[in-house]
Amino acid sequence: MTDVWDALRGGLVTRALALAAEHGVAHALADGPRSVDELAARRGADADVLYRVLRALASDGIFAEVEPRVFANTDASSTLTADGWDAFARLFGGPWLQAVAALDASGEAPFPRVFGDEFWSWLGSHPEERALFDRAMEQNWQRRIERIDAVGLRGDELVVDVGGGNGSLLRALLDRHPGMRGIVFDLPETVRDEPSFGERLTFVEGSFFDGVPRGDVHVLSTIIHDWDDEAALRILRTVRASAGERLLLIESIIQPGNEPSGAKWLDLLMLVISAGRERTEEDWRSLLEESGWEPVAFHEAGAIEARPCP
Ligand SMILES: C[S@@+](CC[C@H](N)C(=O)[O-])C[C@H]1O[C@@H](n2cnc3c(N)ncnc32)[C@H](O)[C@@H]1O
Repeated sequence: MTDVWDALRGGLVTRALALAAEHGVAHALADGPRSVDELAARRGADADVLYRVLRALASDGIFAEVEPRVFANTDASSTLTADGWDAFARLFGGPWLQAVAALDASGEAPFPRVFGDEFWSWLGSHPEERALFDRAMEQNWQRRIERIDAVGLRGDELVVDVGGGNGSLLRALLDRHPGMRGIVFDLPETVRDEPSFGERLTFVEGSFFDGVPRGDVHVLSTIIHDWDDEAALRILRTVRASAGERLLLIESIIQPGNEPSGAKWLDLLMLVISAGRERTEEDWRSLLEESGWEPVAFHEAGAIEARPCP
């Protein structure tokens, strides 16, 4: 059973991780231990505050105080140096945490109330946070690739990654399948490095509420969970109108019971940010069937396959 104190202090952990990421602590420790005074001086932090932040995190195994006021990375803190995790920590302990603090039971997403705009348009008008978000979405890309692999692609398809962000997922997929071509489809403001995409990958800008490019396989990776059912149906219908052979949703499938579940917490984050939600197999089935898709398989690891209804 989780200790109630450990649960209550969760917001402090989130913010402490964001501060460590903002001050580049894990990156600075990549070459070995450093004193907190040195770490604080790099980006003008108060050394006493940074010390107390790192000492608290170290008590959870994130960083280690190896000598008095000298810190080193642990396996957990080293994660902050990999693929977008530091950006993820900064968003989580920054704007998202501010919105989390305003969650109530009114049924409305607090993000627009706190920031005066819907999440996606707010990101569109905040380029620095948009860049942070696009980088943050790279974290754990290996797991998303494993989920796509679990479904099995031939390797010669034209894959459209709908809401594919900066294209990192599709780039990794194309690296594994030399005969595959890809289209990343997303809003124009995503921060991406198009010149490095290569010949097999193109970026098409637009909104998935209006239309998406045609292809053999449409991948929607953590897209539908951002939206309520009405918007989710609109997106799935738009994709259906350009459908090729298959639809692949990389999404959580909420399981019954009380086992530890990251997806049940992610569900609350989706509620906070954009009135989105995580869904059960039954929820997915009815969304797909109502939008012109026939569910083919539900992979518990977090992939759902469907094909267009005739
Ligand atoms: C949670 S991110 C997922 C990114 C990526 N698919 C992944 O798995 O990391 C959701 C993506 O949907 C995009 N998005 C939001 N509204 C959109 C719209 N109306 N049309 C196209 N893309 C949109 C966002 O820009 C963002 O890149």
